[in-house]
Amino acid sequence: MNNEKIIITDMGSTDSNKHSDKAILCLGIESSCDETSAAIVDSDRNILSHIIYSQIPEHANYGGVVPELAARAHILAIEEVVKLTLQRANKTLNDIDIISATAGPGLIGGVLVGWMAAVGMSDALQKPLIAINHLEGHALVPRLCATSALDNTVNIDVKFPYLLMLASGGHCQILLVHNVGQYELLGQTLDDSAGEAFDKIAKMLGLGYPGGPIVDKMARQGNPKRFDFPRPLCDKPNCDFSFSGIKTAARFLLNSISEEERNDTFVQDFCASFQQAVVDCIINRLKHALKTNPVIKANPETIVVAGGVAKNSAIRTAIEKLAIENNKLFAAPPMNLCTDNGAMIAWAGIENYKVGKNIVKQPVAPRPRWPLTEL
Ligand code: KG4
Ligand code: ZN
Repeated sequence: MNNEKIIITDMGSTDSNKHSDKAILCLGIESSCDETSAAIVDSDRNILSHIIYSQIPEHANYGGVVPELAARAHILAIEEVVKLTLQRANKTLNDIDIISATAGPGLIGGVLVGWMAAVGMSDALQKPLIAINHLEGHALVPRLCATSALDNTVNIDVKFPYLLMLASGGHCQILLVHNVGQYELLGQTLDDSAGEAFDKIAKMLGLGYPGGPIVDKMARQGNPKRFDFPRPLCDKPNCDFSFSGIKTAARFLLNSISEEERNDTFVQDFCASFQQAVVDCIINRLKHALKTNPVIKANPETIVVAGGVAKNSAIRTAIEKLAIENNKLFAAPPMNLCTDNGAMIAWAGIENYKVGKNIVKQPVAPRPRWPLTEL
C-alpha cells in the first residue's frame, strides 16, 4: 500500500459550535480490525470530528481481513488519520483533555498500532490515557447517540441498565448492561458470530466482502419464505446462539442446485431466507431473556442493538417490534456508528474517565482476547 492510495472518509460532526470549554474533550483511536479511525468527542455528546480510513479494498481480493496486511495498513494510515481528525475539529493536541484507544480484543497487530500511537501522545503531552475494550465501545456508543428503527430522526436517551444485543463480525452476545464496566453476559454464540455468518454466506454466493451489507441489500428484493433454513438453539433454555448449522444448510442447498438455477431471484431469495433465519434466532433468544429473567422483564427500559450487524434493517426493525410488544424503548446507534469507528472509542474513553475506570497508570499490554465480563 502506498500513502497516496489512502482513502479517508470524513464521517462528519455534530454541531461543534455547541462545544463548551467546560466539556471534557477526548481523542479516541480505533484500529482493532480493518478500519483505522479517530474521533474527537466531548462529554456533552458532541462529535467534533470523525475520520475513518477503511481498508476494505486491501482485503477484498482475499474475501476477508488478512491480519498481517491490516497491521501494515494501520501503520501507514494512523498518523494521517489523527492529523486530519484534529484539523477537522479545528483543535491541536494541546486542546485535548484525554486520549483513549482500543486495547483489545481484536487483531493484535492492528491494536498495537493504535494503542502505541495513543501511548506516545499521552506520554508526550502528559494527558490521561484510557484503555478501551472494543466491545465496550460498541456497547456504550448508543449512549452517545441512538435512534429508533422506525424513525431515525429521533434521538433516544439510553439509560442504565439496558438489554443489549451485541452483534458484530467477531461477537454475538446478549448482555445486561448495568453500568460502565458492568456487563452481565446472558448468552453468546457457541460458534460463528452473526456477522461472520453473513460474511460466509456472501462468500459462498461469490458476492464479495464484507458480506453483511451485500446480503442485506439482496435480501430486500427476495422472498424470506422460499428456503427453510434451520433456527439452531431456538427455544432452548438459555440465551445462546449457534449459526454454523445455518451455514452448513446453506452450503448443502447451494451444492444441490445447478449453475443455471443460480439466477438473481435465487440469490435474492437465498439471502432473504438466510437473513430471516438469523432474525428469528435473535428474536427468539431475546424473548427468552425477557421471559425468564425477572430483572430484565422489570428493569431495563430500553432494548439496544449495537455492533456492525446492527446496520441490518430487518434486524433493527424486528428488535424494535419486540421492544414495543414488551413496553420498552428501542435504540440503535445511527448507521455510521454501528460498524467499527473512532467515535465509539472516544465516547467510551469519556464514560470510563468520568467513573475513574481503565485509566492507565502503568504500561498495559493490549489483549487479543478481552471478554466484557473481565472489565
Ligand atoms: O462491528 P464490526 O464493524 O466489526 C467487528 O467488531 O467485528 O462488524 C462488522 C460486521 C461484518 O461481519 C459485516 O458483514 C457486518 O458487521 N455487517 C452487517 C451489515 N453491515 C455490516 N451484517 C448484516 N447486515 C448489514 N447491513
Ligand atoms: Zn467492532
